[in-house]
Amino acid sequence: MMWKDTYRIGVDRIDQQHMELFRITEELVNAVKEGAAVEVYQRILGFLKDYVIYHFRDEEAYQESIHYSGIEAHKEEHRQFTETVLHYEERLTANGFNEKTMKDLAGTVTAWLIYHVVDTDQKIVSGEAPAGEEKQFDQFVDLFAHSALDMMETMAGLDQSSAQLQTVGSDQPQGDVFVTIQLVDDLNGKAVFGFSKELALHLLESMTGMELTEVDELVQSALCELTNISCGNAATALTKRGLQCDIKPPVLSNEFPGENTGSGIRIDTAFGPMEVGVLL
Ligand SMILES: [Fe+2]
Repeated sequence: MMWKDTYRIGVDRIDQQHMELFRITEELVNAVKEGAAVEVYQRILGFLKDYVIYHFRDEEAYQESIHYSGIEAHKEEHRQFTETVLHYEERLTANGFNEKTMKDLAGTVTAWLIYHVVDTDQKIVSGEAPAGEEKQFDQFVDLFAHSALDMMETMAGLDQSSAQLQTVGSDQPQGDVFVTIQLVDDLNGKAVFGFSKELALHLLESMTGMELTEVDELVQSALCELTNISCGNAATALTKRGLQCDIKPPVLSNEFPGENTGSGIRIDTAFGPMEVGVLL
């Protein structure tokens, strides 16, 4: 089951709605795993869209009622996600409900929903503003590697203290699947995240509670969303230090994209390695 009791924020009405959102997402993931009929995809997407709109409206009303200070930034996250879902609907309606795009959607929704409920929504009740805490780092690559670790802990319960970090000089990052994010503004360059197949599958298995065997579009799009979240957090940390940093949408590849990185960090976890490189 995708829903975990640790995801509760302690407001019954909102928790019930979150459970329903997880139930729909689980139905979506099951449908793409089994290769469902177009009518099934249409029904699930239609319900997901309506429920997302209904839930966001209600959650925002709750935030207003308690005068939550982070409401504007939170509303913006809701707005962006609604736009993402609507954009998928447009694409699917225009090009047909194909399995590849449905898997893409399922991966994106899974990763976004878990992070939003586990991290962002928890802050409504703790009263904390939505931006993350300040991180200490020596090099930019340390910041990106630690943001990736934080993300894996939040999303998949990975124990950070058991992970080993090692500098890998100017070697090319190793991995079975790479996600690259372009950094713009004061910090110009790119951050590359190489995931081993074992780690990628483990992350998705612990997020969905399902057994997965291949790094398909579902896993790939979830990895892109996870990387996007962790880079977004790193960029926020940099901006807090007075270094403007913006990120572009993630790009996926099966081989290391381009030149050697300036500096890299290998992260060994109990579920497989990954490497993070920053090229400036
Ligand atoms: Fe929310």
